[in-house]
Amino acid sequence: MKVSTSILSSNDIGMCISSLEKTKTDYIHLDIMDGKFVSNKTWHLDDLAGYLENIEKPLDVHLMVEDIINYVNEFSFLNPEYITFHLEATNDINGIINYIKKQGIKVGISIKPNTNVELLYPYLKDIDLVLVMSVEPGMGGQKFIPSSKDKIDKLKEYKINNNLDYIISVDGGINNETIKLVSNSDMVVSGNFITSGDMKKNIELLKDYSVE
Ligand code: DX5
Ligand code: ZN
Repeated sequence: MKVSTSILSSNDIGMCISSLEKTKTDYIHLDIMDGKFVSNKTWHLDDLAGYLENIEKPLDVHLMVEDIINYVNEFSFLNPEYITFHLEATNDINGIINYIKKQGIKVGISIKPNTNVELLYPYLKDIDLVLVMSVEPGMGGQKFIPSSKDKIDKLKEYKINNNLDYIISVDGGINNETIKLVSNSDMVVSGNFITSGDMKKNIELLKDYSVE
């Protein structure tokens, strides 16, 4: 299982990022909120760039914003491996997929807990990652919503049946217990469980989880 660590709930992002560099986390997950698509607001590029410019861990950017293109332009500067936007935030899904690809960045699409997974199907052949939100986007530390499991299982089945290769990622309320419900995902995003305790140990607990 791949692990992407969300730094959203950490009190000291500088310290958190430099500690994560010494762990087995596969990615650092950046939650970018605009105060419109979700009511909270997070960092601007300037708040983060100094901490992220020279790191080795690849970045996994999760945009919870309305004006997607603007934020893609801003955060491309960090050269992330993935930029994920929300299906619910735009009518021009194909335009945004192509725009992100043109920057040489892999593309993800995320869906909120109340969005039907089938709405993603037309885009799955064109994207690199699907991010299933297992809590309402907007803040860390919420409880995992069990119906997210069905979505992950359907995405896995669709992927096999259609011979596609997108990564299935899940975000929200993931810990060493809830991870057991999402064994059909390829990656878990976890914030509070990792950053509120022994980061190294908690990342390893998640990474070691596998049903094989
Ligand atoms: C919620 C964010 C998540 C969140 C995960 O809107 O997208 O990435 O920070 O944090 P936990 O693991 O605490 O739910
Ligand atoms: Zn996130």
